[in-house]
Amino acid sequence: MITVRAPGKLFIAGEYAVVEPGNPSVLIAVDRYVRVDLTPSVGKGSIHSEQYGRQPVVWYRDSNGIVVDHDMQPVDYILSSIATVEQLVSELGVTPRFYDLTVSSELDDVSGRKFGLGSSAAVTVATIGALNEFYDLELTRLERYKLAMLATIAVSPRASGGDLAASTFGGWIAYSAPDRGHAMTLRDERGVIGALRSDWDGLSVRRLAPPSALRLMVGWTGSPASTSRLVDNLQGRRWTDEVHYADFLARSRHHVEALITALDEDDAEGVKTAIRGARRTLGALDSAAKLGIETPALARLSDTAEAIGAAAKSSGAGGGDCGVVFVDVDADVSALLREWELSDIRHLALSVHPAEGGLDER
Ligand code: PMV
Repeated sequence: MITVRAPGKLFIAGEYAVVEPGNPSVLIAVDRYVRVDLTPSVGKGSIHSEQYGRQPVVWYRDSNGIVVDHDMQPVDYILSSIATVEQLVSELGVTPRFYDLTVSSELDDVSGRKFGLGSSAAVTVATIGALNEFYDLELTRLERYKLAMLATIAVSPRASGGDLAASTFGGWIAYSAPDRGHAMTLRDERGVIGALRSDWDGLSVRRLAPPSALRLMVGWTGSPASTSRLVDNLQGRRWTDEVHYADFLARSRHHVEALITALDEDDAEGVKTAIRGARRTLGALDSAAKLGIETPALARLSDTAEAIGAAAKSSGAGGGDCGVVFVDVDADVSALLREWELSDIRHLALSVHPAEGGLDER
């Protein structure tokens, strides 16, 4: 049996702007995981996941690729990952085989509540990791990220893929998304191998060092509205054509670049200033486009952190879910934790999942 785990993620800064190719963001991988177990099978394959209910999804192949027994709507990330790797395997002339996958997730709590740590991304990255081992493909991390991105944009074309990059590379990263239309065209015109071997417009990933004098704390404020709904909302109503949007992108870039510089220089005050700037920038977007990113609970999370000299902001699409706090390592956080408890904000005891190896390593 092959077992692969992939970590969840949190956005630190650059949300929404990162959806536009080439705009920077900062993310971390967290030490909560999705696990995929793969066992070889014969004649047909299956996927066992709580997401699908108790019955496994059974699949087989015909001349056009993967066929699923039930009508799965919407097309799912696991199936899309399988289809993408299968296309690669067929282009490489490797004989396809059958396998059963079992998915288990630590990214949700026992009652199944999601914390917004990126379970669909982690499941995609873990599935691709398991198939990489099964077929002995010896893919580099960057190639696995690209496969995960191709699989994801087949399901969700607007996704930035920051979550896939965090889950694939681990640690702290600076990330700008590729032009997804260009990536899809590369796949159509040159196949999956050709797409993996090409440079992708806009894509950039670099490891960052964590700030040594700051502690990262994560609070969870309850289940949000759906992320894709918030992004579609912004992208869908032509608000993105307006001058405010260009202004938002420029301000976001300014603060994210300042954050990256501060991390490179291990400048704790610089990190806090950049986080505050990123919060204000999202706040301006929020009031102009009326998205509801910073809910009253997320505002309380950040304001109570500010009260003890920390810097904080919502993480990801917002509307609920997590906020991130940067507080001096020697600060007393007991008053903050008490405030959170009184406000029903759950402190998640997460750590950063460490980076392992280079981006171009296998
Ligand atoms: O809500 P999360 O943590 O999945 O983050 C969404 C971040 C967005 O920039 C709003 C969307 C994206 O695809 O990057």
